Amino acid sequence: MDKRFKVLMINGSPREKGNITLAFSEMEKVFDEANVEYENIQIGRMDIRGCIACEKCRETGKCVFNDIVNELSAKLEEADGLVIGGPVYYGSANGTLMSCLQRMFYSNHSDKSNKVGASVVSARRSGCTAAFDELNKFFTMSNMPVATSQYWNNIYGWEPGEGSVDDEGRQVMRVLARNMVFLMKSISLGKEQIGLPEEEDRVWTNFTR
Ligand SMILES: Cc1cc2nc3c(=O)[nH]c(=O)nc-3n(C[C@H](O)[C@H](O)[C@H](O)COP(=O)(O)O)c2cc1C
Repeated sequence: MDKRFKVLMINGSPREKGNITLAFSEMEKVFDEANVEYENIQIGRMDIRGCIACEKCRETGKCVFNDIVNELSAKLEEADGLVIGGPVYYGSANGTLMSCLQRMFYSNHSDKSNKVGASVVSARRSGCTAAFDELNKFFTMSNMPVATSQYWNNIYGWEPGEGSVDDEGRQVMRVLARNMVFLMKSISLGKEQIGLPEEEDRVWTNFTR
């Protein structure tokens, strides 16, 4: 296969050499071996405000706050896969990452179907699965197939880099990256050989009508 796949990696941690960075570096080793191009952007120290529901993006397809979110949004359009990684804060993915993803997914109306998603979380002790579920929800309402591993994609550590002794967590990340590469390739082949699934006009209702 000639195509060189591209993955956008968004690291939500504010810590430069933190545990999400470590998890991402395990994935990057696999991407390097597989000749997959990746761009890893760390947003955890950026001043990223939350969505204010102004709905301007309905007209423009961009967030009214023209910051890193719009830059990431443009990069996502070019990517075949998206990795999102967040440290667990109070049993949730950290606020900066959630603000970024909520604004990016809400404002960008381009077709994200069949871009492969993968999420990664890190914690000292607890809250990983709740945060993992939160992150995966961005993919599962966007027609984005989710890459999985042999366990949920958690890495454990408290201090920056402590996850280096979590051998199982690091292996989970490598397997995740290999599965992600396989899925991107399979989807590309599938598009050529089987074609995309039939689409329907979107039905949009709420619970009161
Ligand atoms: C504000 C804050 C809240 C946290 N809440 C949790 C938590 O709910 N559960 C947990 O196990 N660890 C918690 N931690 C620890 C981090 O999740 C842990 O250090 C993680 O490895 C950080 O990832 P990073 O090094 O990539 O930033 C918290 C840390 C901070 C700073």
